[in-house]
Amino acid sequence: MSAFARDVAQEFGFRFGREARVSRAPGRVNVIGEHTDYNDGFVMPAALEFATLVAAAPREDRRLRVYSMTMDETRELDLAAPEGPTHEWADYVFGVAVMLEKSGLRLKGADLVVWTDIPLGAGLSSSAALEVASAHALLAASGLPFEPLAAAKIGQKAENAYVGMRCGIMDQYASACGVQDHAILIDCRSLESRPVPIPPDLKLVIANSNVKHQHAGGEYNARREACEEGVRLLAPFLGPIKALRDVAPNDLERYKAKLPDLVYRRCRHIVTENARVLEAERALNAGDPVACGRAMNASHDSMRDDFEITCKEIDILAGLAQATKGVFGSRMTGGGFGGCTVSLVEAGAVEAVTQTLIEGYRIATGLDADVFVCSPSEGAGFAAA
Ligand code: GLA
Repeated sequence: MSAFARDVAQEFGFRFGREARVSRAPGRVNVIGEHTDYNDGFVMPAALEFATLVAAAPREDRRLRVYSMTMDETRELDLAAPEGPTHEWADYVFGVAVMLEKSGLRLKGADLVVWTDIPLGAGLSSSAALEVASAHALLAASGLPFEPLAAAKIGQKAENAYVGMRCGIMDQYASACGVQDHAILIDCRSLESRPVPIPPDLKLVIANSNVKHQHAGGEYNARREACEEGVRLLAPFLGPIKALRDVAPNDLERYKAKLPDLVYRRCRHIVTENARVLEAERALNAGDPVACGRAMNASHDSMRDDFEITCKEIDILAGLAQATKGVFGSRMTGGGFGGCTVSLVEAGAVEAVTQTLIEGYRIATGLDADVFVCSPSEGAGFAAA
C-alpha cells in the first residue's frame, strides 16, 4: 500500500477501531477540449498522480459517518432519511450515496475516512475525485461491484442534482477511467474513449496560478445556457440538431447573423474547440508535438476571446509558457476563472520552464505559482497494495 494509503487506513483504525479497505480516485488535467463535454463534444484529459483516498468499512445500521483528514471535520447522513446538501465538502460523498440509492442499489451504512493531495479549487477535479472515490468505497463496503463508467455517471448526477453544478462528464470519466502514461480522448456523446500515449520525451507541466475567482460557478452555468441558446436558434436552419456537436464551423459562419454576437462567440469556441481536440489527438499519435502545441495555444486564445473564461493571471501564465523555449503549447485547463495552465514541454526543458514560470509570474503579479509535472495515472480502484 502506498504510504498515503497506509496513513489513511491507520487513521481509520484509530477513529473507528476496525479495519478498512482504501479506495483511490485521481484528479485530472485536461490537455485540450474545454466546455465541450456538455455540448456532446470531444475532450482529452489525463488522470493525475494526485488523488483522493477513501477508507471505508460497513456498519450495522444505515448511517454514513465520514471524517475528512483534509478538513478535520466529521459529517453524518442517515441513508434511510437523507437530508439535502449543506454546501460543503461532504455533499460530494453524500450526493453520490443518494444517487447510488436512487439508481436502485441498496447501500449498507459505512464509516469513512477521506484524504486528498489534489490542490483544492484549482481546476484539477478534486470534487470529481471525491465523488468517484466515494462511489468506489461505498460500493465496496456494500459488497457491490464498481463499474467505472457507471460510477462516473453517478458522480456527475450527484454534482448536477445534489450539489447544483451543471458540469459535464469529463472530470468523473477521467477519474474513473484514466490510463497510466496516456491522455484519453473521450467522445462525450457515445461515452466511448481511446487512450492517447504521452511519450516519455514529452511532459505535461501544470502551473497553478493560486487564484480562483468567486463567480466561477455562476459563470459556468451561464456558459452552458449560452450554448443551449445557440442550439435553439440554429435548429430551424440546420434541422434536428441536439447539441453544438452537430454544428460544423462553416454552418455556424453561414448562420452567424441569426445569433446575438455573444451567443455566436460562445458557439464559435465550442465548434472550433471540438476540431482542435481531434487535431491534438492526431498530432500526438503522429509524433507531432508542434501541431499539438499549436492547437493548445489556439484553444487558449479561444477561451480568452470567445468563451471569456480566462483571467489576467492565467493569461500571464499561458503567455509566459508560450514564449519559452522547449514549450510546444500552453493553455488554461479546467472550468476557468483561475486555476491552472497545462503546457506541453520537451522533457529536457522542464526545469528551465518551471523556473521561468515561477519567476515570471512573481514579477508580473506578485503571486507564487506552484509548478509540477503530471505523470498520467490509472483511474479509480483500490489503493495499490
Ligand atoms: C469543469 C466541469 C467539466 C468541464 C470543464 C470545462 O471541470 O466539471 O465537466 O465542463 O469544467 O471543460
